[in-house]
Amino acid sequence: MDNDDMKPIQWFPGHMAKTKRAISANLKLVDAVVEIIDARTPLSSRNPDIDNITSSKPKIILMNKCDLADSNATSLWINYFKKKNITALAVDCKSGKNINRLIPTIKSTVLKDLMDKRQRNGTAGTPIRLMILGIPNVGKSSLINRLAGGKRAKVEDRPGVTRVKQWVKLKDNTEMLDMPGVLWHKFDNQTVAIRLAFTGAIKDDVVDIETLAMKLLIFLAENYPESLKARYKIEFDENTSSVDLLEKVGRKRGMIISGGEVNTERTAITVLDEFRSGKLGQITLEIPSKE
Ligand code: G4P
Repeated sequence: MDNDDMKPIQWFPGHMAKTKRAISANLKLVDAVVEIIDARTPLSSRNPDIDNITSSKPKIILMNKCDLADSNATSLWINYFKKKNITALAVDCKSGKNINRLIPTIKSTVLKDLMDKRQRNGTAGTPIRLMILGIPNVGKSSLINRLAGGKRAKVEDRPGVTRVKQWVKLKDNTEMLDMPGVLWHKFDNQTVAIRLAFTGAIKDDVVDIETLAMKLLIFLAENYPESLKARYKIEFDENTSSVDLLEKVGRKRGMIISGGEVNTERTAITVLDEFRSGKLGQITLEIPSKE
């Protein structure tokens, strides 16, 4: 991806050090960590420090929003994590798909030894305790609502986990800390920032929306051309520039301003909205072999 023509995305990294300390301090209270990532950006939506921070605990990765991701790519990613000895499960917190597999999978894989030990000790009824971690907007609140039942308050993007330790009862004799750890991604790399901006994980007010949409259109033209053609009924080839793609979409949609020019801002917003809501089909922005 060519980043030269876009002003670097400036990103507030959150209180990273404070967050890390809070997570480390609370880790000893839990049996396992549930790390939520976005199935469309399995690398970019992971905080690169998370493996180090959580290395003392068993961990499962939840690839959330799998309804929006390319299912072939999701399978590749599950294999990728498996090769790294990490259990990963694809879920969709919006519809609830596979959510009921989470706790049984944790018990039969990453916590199998603990479960066996408790069985032998006669303490099998002890609840298992989890910490939920993930970058903002990845679906932490949605997961907690699914697991706890009933609508809970939106998780604030504030650092760390709660100071007052409270436990929320979940299904299957499981509990979790009442607030998840919100870990911001640290961007050493603009490609990561741009992919997160495509999915809406970075708010649009810190990016140039037209440039962002043009970058997305080029990515789609190269990687998912049929989806792009089907959605907007446009024709293009490898020589079509990003500006031309944006103009073609705008014209097809009748987004014209006085003088017959395309309203590129409106078109850009439409393209990004439609991508984010899945109207362009199931699309993954990074696959293991290319990373
Ligand atoms: P967070 O706590 O990690 O910040 O994330 P949150 O659960 O608030 O989810 C962020 C957005 O992602 C929400 O959309 C939520 O509905 C959506 N979402 C979560 N999981 C999934 C999923 O598996 N599939 C899809 N398609 N979307 C998911 P929103 O537009 O902010 O709110 P709303 O649509 O719920 O009103």
